[in-house]
Amino acid sequence: MLKSKILKDLEENRGRPISGQALAEKNNVSRNAVWKAVNALKEDGHEIISGRNKGYYLSESSDKVSAEGIRSYLGDRLSDVEIMVYDELDSTNNEAKRNINTYGAQTTLLVAETQTGGRGRMGKSFFSPPGAGIYMSVYYRSPHGVRNPMMVTMAAAVAVVRTIEKFTDIKPGIKWVNDIFIGDKKCCGILTEAVTDLETGLSSDIIVGIGLNVRPVDLPPELSDIVTSLGITDVTRNQLIAELLTNLNELCRHERETFMEEYIAHSNVNGKHIKYEADGKACLGTVVTVRKNGALEVKRDSGETDMVTTGEILFREKNKNIK
Ligand code: BTN
Repeated sequence: MLKSKILKDLEENRGRPISGQALAEKNNVSRNAVWKAVNALKEDGHEIISGRNKGYYLSESSDKVSAEGIRSYLGDRLSDVEIMVYDELDSTNNEAKRNINTYGAQTTLLVAETQTGGRGRMGKSFFSPPGAGIYMSVYYRSPHGVRNPMMVTMAAAVAVVRTIEKFTDIKPGIKWVNDIFIGDKKCCGILTEAVTDLETGLSSDIIVGIGLNVRPVDLPPELSDIVTSLGITDVTRNQLIAELLTNLNELCRHERETFMEEYIAHSNVNGKHIKYEADGKACLGTVVTVRKNGALEVKRDSGETDMVTTGEILFREKNKNIK
């Protein structure tokens, strides 16, 4: 499709004008066809600057998410990953689940500009306003099956931390198991869902959903005390998505054994008094550490030690929930 080819050319030359003639010749179409395609791209929300004798170029600040834009940052990497970008979805995880049997590639990336029913863990919703954040799911078909999808979740947390540290001076913390915090506010949540064979215990299909708040926005009152964003404006979301995908791929394929040290170094839960679930009941205790197998070691107020591997933890302060 001409629109997609022109967008690719513009993304690869961000900020540098290309003449209508050059675009027409490269794509073997008329200048009028180029002009129409550029107008259609502008209508889609891409900030394309054009003018007499200037040619066309994508403004440095244009921040519309697109497969062409993500690919321009990937270069030759991950060409086998299928990339699908949507203006609006209920949830990228839901869309991946609905289409699991139709994806040809072993890895598929789904991104939405906005989600109308973004989901978090434990049945919570995930606020997903347009233009402000990254709402993406990576679907993996695993030929041999994965024994412990929790490790994929933890790899995703490290992928997010690496991405934030590459582009900002922020020192993010990981709240077990997979929330990313800046100070005492959450900027990113991860929802991993898997299709698991109950006999073998192996997961053949894994969907890693990542919601990262990038730009500052007006938050609903119930979120304003507990949620934040990276607050940056100088990096495009396409660039952040390309980096997240690259890091996640690297961590899941090549660094399975080593990333837990990085996870543990960023953990913000050690020494915290928490509410959690053990033996099917609510308990209070203090976090000792995150173990290399991903389990949370907690010293119960009543003295026993628990190894927590599922569920959610709530920070407690003077016997009241604060998060
Ligand atoms: C959490 O905070 O508990 C997890 C939030 C996960 C949000 C992401 S956004 C992309 C993907 N689609 C969803 O519906 N959820 C995840």
